[in-house]
Amino acid sequence: MTEHRIAVLPGDGIGPEVMDEALKVLRRISEKYSFEAAHQEFAVGGAALDATGNTTPLPQETLEGCENASAILFGSVGGPKWESLPPDIQPERGALLPLRKHFGLFANLRPGVCHPALIDASPVKNSLIPNGFDVLCVRELTGGIYFGSPKERREEGGEEIAVDTMVYRTSEVERIARVAFEAAMVRDKRVCSVDKANVLQNSMLWRETVIRVAKDYPEVQLSHLYVDNAAMQLIRYAPDYDVIVTGNLFGDILSDEMAMISGSLGMLPSASLGSPDTDGLNFGLYEPSGGSAPDIAGQGIANPIAQILSLAMLLRYSLGEREAADSVDKAVEEAIAAGYRTGDIYRGSENEKLVNTSDMGNAIVERL
Ligand code: IPM
Ligand code: MN
Repeated sequence: MTEHRIAVLPGDGIGPEVMDEALKVLRRISEKYSFEAAHQEFAVGGAALDATGNTTPLPQETLEGCENASAILFGSVGGPKWESLPPDIQPERGALLPLRKHFGLFANLRPGVCHPALIDASPVKNSLIPNGFDVLCVRELTGGIYFGSPKERREEGGEEIAVDTMVYRTSEVERIARVAFEAAMVRDKRVCSVDKANVLQNSMLWRETVIRVAKDYPEVQLSHLYVDNAAMQLIRYAPDYDVIVTGNLFGDILSDEMAMISGSLGMLPSASLGSPDTDGLNFGLYEPSGGSAPDIAGQGIANPIAQILSLAMLLRYSLGEREAADSVDKAVEEAIAAGYRTGDIYRGSENEKLVNTSDMGNAIVERL
C-alpha cells in the first residue's frame, strides 16, 4: 500500500471547521483507493501565536512537520485578535508568506469555476453567463512586490515614507509562464497574460518573456491585457478566458474578483506548487482561496467545499492519486447537483437544501 504523509495546518477562523470536513473526505477516499494517508496536525497562524505566547505564527516544529511531508493541507490564518501584533509576526506575513518562500512555491493555481448549477449565486446576471465559466488563474507567488527589497519605512525629508520594491527576474517569469502554457495544453489552449506594460518596467520584461516562452507552445493562443482592463473584462465575460497568467500582486487581486463572480469565495481551492520532481509530482501547499472569515467562524456554517477541493488538488499534484482526486471533484459536483447549499451559495429556490458545514461534508462523503 502506498504511504503518503500530509502535514495538516488548520490555522484560524473557519480553518479548523472546514478542515474537519476535508479530513473526513481524506479518510473515506484513502479507504476507497487503498492508500495510506498519514496526516499530522501542526499549529500555524494565530493558533500558533496563542500557543507560543505571541512568539511566532510559524513554530519550528510546524516547519519541520511540513518538511517531512509530501504536501501541506492548509486551512487559513489571521483574524482581528492578531492584527495589532508587530507585522513580522502577524499570521499572514509571519507564516503564510514565509511558508511559500521557504518551499519555493512559486506557482499558485486558482481555478475560478462557476458551475452552471450555481449561476444564481454569481452577482453577474445569469443571462450574461448562461453556461457558467471555468478560468484558471496562474499567479506567480514568490516574487514581485511582495518579496522585493528594500521593503521598509524610513524618514525622508522630514516625513515618514514607505517603500516596497517590485522585482521580477527573467527566470521567474519564464518558469511561471511555462506552468501556464502547460496547463493550457490540457485545457482549451488559450493563455491571457496580464500585466501593466504601459507603465511598469517589470511588466515590459514580463510581456517579452511570456512572448518568448509562447514560441515553445505554438498550439496555444496567447493574448495580453493590462491589469485594469483585465479587471473589467473578467466581469464583462469571463468565458472569454481559459488560463490567465500574472504576477503576484495582480494575481492576488484578480483571483479574488474571479472568486466573487463565480458565486462564492467558499468554493475556490488553490494549489501553491514548486517545481515537479522526476516523477512529475510537486511538493505543494493547498488552501482555500477564501481566508479565515472571522465573521462566521465558530458557527459551523462555513462552506467546506474550497477546503475539500484543495484536498483534491493535493491528491492530484502532490500524491499522484489522480483517480481519487477526480472522484472527490465528482462527489462535490454531485452534492451541488443534489441541491446541498451552505448559506453562502443558498438562494432559496425549491430544489435547494440549506445545510451547515458538517452536513455538506457528509453529503460529499456519502457520494464517494
Ligand atoms: C492570498 C492572501 C494572501 C496573499 C495574504 C493573506 C498574504 O490574500 O492568498 O491571496 O496576498 O497572497
Ligand atoms: Mn488574496
